[in-house]
Amino acid sequence: MDIKSIKLVFFSPTETTAKIVNKIAQGITPDIVTGINLTPPGARSQDVVRMNDELTIIGTPVYAGRVPPEAVRRLRRIKGNNTPAAVVVVFGNREYEDALLELKDIAAELGFRPIAGGAFIGEHSYSNENTPIAVGRPDDQDMETAKRFGESIKGKISEFNTLDDTPALHVPGNFPYKKWVERSEMAPVTVESLCTLCAECAAACPTAAITVEDSVVTSTNECIRCSACIKKCPTEARKWESAWIDQVRKWLGENCRQRKEPQMFL
Ligand SMILES: Cc1cc2nc3c(=O)[nH]c(=O)nc-3n(C[C@H](O)[C@H](O)[C@H](O)COP(=O)(O)O)c2cc1C
Ligand code: SF4
Ligand code: SF4
Repeated sequence: MDIKSIKLVFFSPTETTAKIVNKIAQGITPDIVTGINLTPPGARSQDVVRMNDELTIIGTPVYAGRVPPEAVRRLRRIKGNNTPAAVVVVFGNREYEDALLELKDIAAELGFRPIAGGAFIGEHSYSNENTPIAVGRPDDQDMETAKRFGESIKGKISEFNTLDDTPALHVPGNFPYKKWVERSEMAPVTVESLCTLCAECAAACPTAAITVEDSVVTSTNECIRCSACIKKCPTEARKWESAWIDQVRKWLGENCRQRKEPQMFL
């Protein structure tokens, strides 16, 4: 089979997933890569996109062992048109549980043919100075692994004459998927004395939950707790002030410090 071009389709509030899918693409081909970034708020209402002979790399983070519901809603505007896809989830060094299986199933529902799957590690969205979890990941070693995964995908595709010849993809996970528990509404807060009203937090927010005028106002209703605004704020004026996040951080600090490695399935 020939690969005419590569399309990246990803949701990535804190940009670790974006880095991984780009690197996988580099392993497949150094050029003709285009992207559909589902992260900005506008992706909620973008026109339906139909794939056309492109190998697609679909990437999302793992939230509570699942594909984030916000990413699922945005992915539903993509039509696979029987094109091959590599599905990739990026998790914060805890576990990915049912997320990779769920993403594979979603890809198939959208009309893609999943041919490869990968679970990679990114710095945890709730990592901070006091509780560092997977800081700096994906690091050089992860990026090298991502590139080699791309090379393996290329090798696999070249073995088959048509898409119908490719074997079914098996990835870990259970169905029914882990139950998604809706949390009570919350959002990061702004320390006004540190805030310069630069609005970088608003620009980074995937759900347009933040407005910046005379002060920074955040809609707890819209917030998906991704931490993008915290990681993007240049003055460290955004932070979590939540007993629940403190508890999550404490648990992660006690249980998830040991380095995990990416897993790949072809
Ligand atoms: C609401 C939420 C839930 C998360 N759940 C998990 C999880 O179940 N397992 C895990 O290892 N990491 C979890 N993470 C961490 C992210 O998967 C990880 O930081 C990932 O690299 C973020 O991807 P992004 O940079 O593309 O946004 C969670 C993060 C958030 C915001
Ligand atoms: S990014 Fe930080 S400094 Fe800039 S407006 Fe937002 S909270 Fe204020
Ligand atoms: S306000 Fe919420 S949704 Fe928006 S960037 Fe911050 S954590 Fe993410």
